[in-house]
Amino acid sequence: GGTLDEVLRQELGCLHDIPLYKSFVAGWPQVEAFQARHDDLLIATYPKSGTTWLSEILDAIYHDGDLEKCRRDAIYNRVPFLEMKAPGILSGVEQLEKTPSPRLVKTHLPVHLLPASFQEKDCKVIYMARNAKDVVVSYYYFHQMAKIHPDPGTLSEFLQAFMDGKVAYGSWYKHVKGWWEKRHEKRLLYLFYEDMKKDPWGEVQKILQFLGKEVAEETVARILHHTSFQEMKKNPTANYETMPTTLMDHSLSPFMRKGISGDWANHFTVAQNERFDQHYQQHMAGSDLCFQMEA
Ligand code: A3P
Repeated sequence: GGTLDEVLRQELGCLHDIPLYKSFVAGWPQVEAFQARHDDLLIATYPKSGTTWLSEILDAIYHDGDLEKCRRDAIYNRVPFLEMKAPGILSGVEQLEKTPSPRLVKTHLPVHLLPASFQEKDCKVIYMARNAKDVVVSYYYFHQMAKIHPDPGTLSEFLQAFMDGKVAYGSWYKHVKGWWEKRHEKRLLYLFYEDMKKDPWGEVQKILQFLGKEVAEETVARILHHTSFQEMKKNPTANYETMPTTLMDHSLSPFMRKGISGDWANHFTVAQNERFDQHYQQHMAGSDLCFQMEA
């Protein structure tokens, strides 16, 4: 029962050690019991790291660059969101049960909370990470437009919440490092948003190799054009403009906002940047995981 209105601007609940939307927490038993299939491909990210972009690329690869097929439905239906649950609509798990194989599955879960079945079925995973400063700015604007989130307050307040891991999905540091540590033991391809911006051709080749798929050069070119920021921004099956306005208000900030690396420099003050750098160094110390922060 219930209506979507219940999820608007609610405070976050708790899933194990991470803050998460209460409606998702309520749906957790079904997620934990989720039955993965061996040929599922899991797309895993911390929020705002290029999930939709990677999803569109993979759906286009799965359909051999047939753009008409890519326009068959909205991206959130073509690539169901595993842990999504809200009153009155199909949950991610219910959507996935109706999806024929081979399925693309989206998740933002940290690796330690991934349902066991993905490991048991030895599913391939593509993780995409994005530098923390661009993530926090993107997440801030997303909180304004996507009303499942609590009100983010000022950027300064939101920066603090992000550094403290008090945002949905918890600490960015733990998320990117947790998945990074698993990259040898799982069938896992770890990608970076910044690399995809700089060399989409090369990154798509990595994906194709990981999938063991061969695609003609002109098909790759067509996929890259279709998944460019400008094309996705005007594509109603990719830009989330088909979501109810009560949930996502694009007049406050469009989902397809800027799509660049280094936008954080237009938002951080010098003092905020210094504080952030200091905190960042403490939390990434000892890790060989490196990010490109500049455009
Ligand atoms: P910005 O807010 O910095 O513009 P997610 O899909 O994980 O929620 O990530 C959303 C971010 O990815 C947004 O970042 C969005 O603009 C960006 N994005 C979406 N499609 C993109 C594309 N084709 N190329 C580059 N960035 C893209």
